[in-house]
Amino acid sequence: MTARKIIIDTDPGQDDAVAILLALASPEDLDVLGLTCVAGNVPLDLTTRNARIVCELAGKPDTRVFAGCDAPLQRKLITAEHVHGKTGLDGPVLPEPTMPLQDQHAVDFIIDTLRSEPEGTITLCPLGPLTNIATALQRAPDIGARVQEIVLMGGAYFEVGNITPTAEFNIYVDPEAADIVFKSGIAITVLPLDVTHQALVTSARNDAFRALGTKVGTAVAQMTDFFERFDIEKYGSQGAPLHDPCVTAYLIAPHLFSGRFINVEIETQSPLTLGMTVADWWRVTDRKPNATFIREIDADHFFALLTERLARL
Ligand code: BDR
Ligand code: CA
Repeated sequence: MTARKIIIDTDPGQDDAVAILLALASPEDLDVLGLTCVAGNVPLDLTTRNARIVCELAGKPDTRVFAGCDAPLQRKLITAEHVHGKTGLDGPVLPEPTMPLQDQHAVDFIIDTLRSEPEGTITLCPLGPLTNIATALQRAPDIGARVQEIVLMGGAYFEVGNITPTAEFNIYVDPEAADIVFKSGIAITVLPLDVTHQALVTSARNDAFRALGTKVGTAVAQMTDFFERFDIEKYGSQGAPLHDPCVTAYLIAPHLFSGRFINVEIETQSPLTLGMTVADWWRVTDRKPNATFIREIDADHFFALLTERLARL
C-alpha cells in the first residue's frame, strides 16, 4: 500500500509535537506533504517556531513548514499557555530551529496542493483551531470536493468541554471556522476529548518513552512530564492526555478506534455554550450525519505503536 498523503495543520503544543513525530516516523503509512501552522495554543510566531523545532528533533529538516492565519476568522485569539507553558513546547530544552519557514502562506499551500494533486488523494489533519482550513475552503470552494478526508482533533460529547464547561479548545477558539468545516460536505473523522482523555501517559508509559534512550524519547518524556500537571490537577487523571497523536495514530491504525457516523453541528451563537460540538450520538434528530465521531481507543496498543515508531527517530 502506498503512503497516504497528508497535510498536518497544527499549533504545537506538546501533544501536536508528538503527533508530528509519529507521522514523521511512519513514512510507509504517511507522506507528510507539509505542516501548516495556525495560531492556537500559542501565537503564530511560536507555533511556526515549535513546528520547526519538532522537525529538527525528528531529524527531518527538509519537511516543509508554512505559516498560516494568526487569528480566528471573527474573534480575538485565545491561547493556552496555562496548559502548554510560555513557549507552547515547555518541558525539554531544545535548540532554536535553523531550518527555513516556507515563503508561501499555509492557506495557499493547502489550496495549491489540493488543486495540483489527483482528486481524492489528500487528507487534511487539523490539530488546532480550524482557521486555516476554513479560510482555504472560503477562498477556493472548489477544493472541498478534492479532499479525501479531514481527520481532526476537536470537540467532545461525553466529556463536554475543557476550555469552557461545554467546549473543547480547538473548536472554541474559532467556532465559525469549525462551522464552515463541519458544513463543508467533506468526509470528516473527529477524535474528540471522549477519546483523547483515554490516551493518558501513565508513569509506565512515560518510562517507556524515556527508556528509548534517544533524543526523541527523552524529549517526549519531558514534554509529557510538563504537560501532565494541568490534567492531573484538573481531572485527577493519571497523566497527560495525548490528544493530537490520536489523529496520526488513527491514520496509521484505524482498527484501534471505533465510533459512529452521526450529525455534528457547532454552536456559534450562544454565549453560554459557544463552540460546543452538538453531536447527535443517540441519533435523536433527523439531521444528516456528517462526521464519524470516534468514542473508543485501544490505549495499550496505541501507546505500543507510538513507542515503537518513536524508537525509529
Ligand atoms: C487540543 O487543544 C490543544 O491544547 C491541544 O494541542 C489539542 O489540540 C485539546 O483540547
Ligand atoms: Ca493542538
